[in-house]
Amino acid sequence: MDKLVIEGGARLDGAVGICGAKNSVLPVMAAALLAEQPLRIPNAPQLHDVGTMAVLLRELGASVERYADGGVEICAEGPLSDKAPWETVRKMRASICVLGPLLARQGRADVSLPGGCVFGVRPIDVHLKGFEALGAKVRVEHGFIVAEAPKGGLRGAEVFLGTAFGSSVTGTANVLMAAVLAQGRTVIHYAACEPEVEDLCRCLVAMGAKIDGIGSPMLTIDGVAKLGGATHAVIPDRIEAGTYLSAGAMTGGRVRVTGMRPVHLSAYLDRMREAGVPFECGADWVETQPYAGTAPAGAGAFPPRPRPTDVTTQTYPGFPTDLQAQWMAQMCFADGVSVINEVIYPDRYMHVAELARLGAQVRRQGTTAIVQGKPSLSGAKVMASDLRASAALVLAGLAAQGKTEVYRVYHSDRGYEKIEQRLIGLGAKITRTKE
Ligand code: EPZ
Repeated sequence: MDKLVIEGGARLDGAVGICGAKNSVLPVMAAALLAEQPLRIPNAPQLHDVGTMAVLLRELGASVERYADGGVEICAEGPLSDKAPWETVRKMRASICVLGPLLARQGRADVSLPGGCVFGVRPIDVHLKGFEALGAKVRVEHGFIVAEAPKGGLRGAEVFLGTAFGSSVTGTANVLMAAVLAQGRTVIHYAACEPEVEDLCRCLVAMGAKIDGIGSPMLTIDGVAKLGGATHAVIPDRIEAGTYLSAGAMTGGRVRVTGMRPVHLSAYLDRMREAGVPFECGADWVETQPYAGTAPAGAGAFPPRPRPTDVTTQTYPGFPTDLQAQWMAQMCFADGVSVINEVIYPDRYMHVAELARLGAQVRRQGTTAIVQGKPSLSGAKVMASDLRASAALVLAGLAAQGKTEVYRVYHSDRGYEKIEQRLIGLGAKITRTKE
C-alpha cells in the first residue's frame, strides 16, 4: 500500500483543473444499463471507483471501453446478467446504483447489499421503498437484494423519498432510473437536488427519458418504452474543487481552481468568506488570494489563520458533508473556536483522532465537533480511514510544521485523480512511496 509523505510549510501557487465529478459519473455509468446502444462519457475521471464500476458493468455483461483521454464508452446491448456479486459491490457502495437500471431493463435485479462504511450504517431503505412503490417485489436473502418487477413491468407511482436525514442522493438516482422505463407517470417527492442528481437527469433525457422538475425536490417522470445511446459529459467535481481551494487557503497561496462551477459551492464559498479567506470568483474558476490572515505575527505568517467559522452539513444547496473533514482541517488553524455539526452522517469523524496526532484540539460531542484553532500543527504519521478524511489529512499536512506521512492513501485515490501530482504542480513538497 502507498503513503504520501508531505513536507509542510510550502505556500501553494498556480492553477489546477477539475475533473469530472465522481458522484456524477458513477450513477451515469450505471444508467448505460438502461439502453442497448452505447453511452459515451468523454470526461470520466481516472479514479479507482470508476474502475470498480467498469468491472461491475462488465460482470453484468456490458462492454466498457476506457480511453487514454479519460473517455469511457459503455454498451449494454444485452443479454445482461442480473446478479451483482458481493466481491465487487463491497468495494464501492455506489454499486447499488445498478439496481434500478437492472430492474427496469430486465424486470429483475439481484444485487449484494453494499454494507456500511467507516462513517455509518449507510441504509438503503428508501431505495427499496421506491422500487416497491413502482410495483416491484423486494426481498433480502443471503446478503442480496432481490427485486422483481410485476409481469407487465414496473408501473409509475407517487413516492416520498425523504429519510430521517433529509433526501437521499443515490436513493433518488436509483428510483429515478427505475422509473424512466416504467409504464405511466412517476412523481418523486423530496428528491435530492444535488448537482450530481441533476446531471444524471440530463443524461437520461439525452438518452430519451421524459423528466420534469430537474434540479427540484419534485421529479416527474413519464416512462418510455426504450432509451437510446447518448454522449454525456459529466459536471465538474465540486468536492475536488473545494478541496483544492482549501489547500490554497490553508497555505496562504494564490491557487486558481479552473473548470469548475462556483454556483455548486455557494455554501462552502460563503463559509470561506465568513472565515476571512480572500478569493475571487470567475464564471468557471475561483482563486484564493495570498493573505496574512489574522495571525498576530502579522503579514506573512504561516500558516495564515482563518477566522473561526461554524458549519452544519446539509443536503444541497447547504454545506456538503463531503467537505466537512476538509473544513475541520482548515479550522484547526483558526484564530478561535469553531463548531462543526455533521447531521448527514453523525459518525463521520474518523479524521478527528488523526488530526489530534498532528496536535489539533478537537472535541467531539455527538454529532458536533468543537475545534479549538491553534497557530500551528506539527507533522506526524497518520492513517487515512475514508476518502474525505484522507483529503483532510493531506491538507493538514501541507499546513503543518515538519513532515506528515499519510498512510492508506488508496482511500484518496478513490476520489482524487493524481492528487500528489496535482499538488506538486502547485508547489507542494509531497511524494508517494510504499508504506
Ligand atoms: C452520496 O451517498 C455520495 N456518494 C456521498 O459521497 C455523499 O456523502 C452523500 O451522497 C451525501 O451527500 C455518491 O453519490 C456515490 P445519501 P449516498 O443516500 O447516496 C441516509 C463521497 O465522499 N439514508 O444521500 O449513499 C444516510 O444514512 C461519498 O464522495 C437513509 O437513511 O448518501 C445518510 O445519513 C461519501 N436511508 C443520508 O440519508 C436510505 O435509504 C444521506 O445519504 C438512504 C440514505
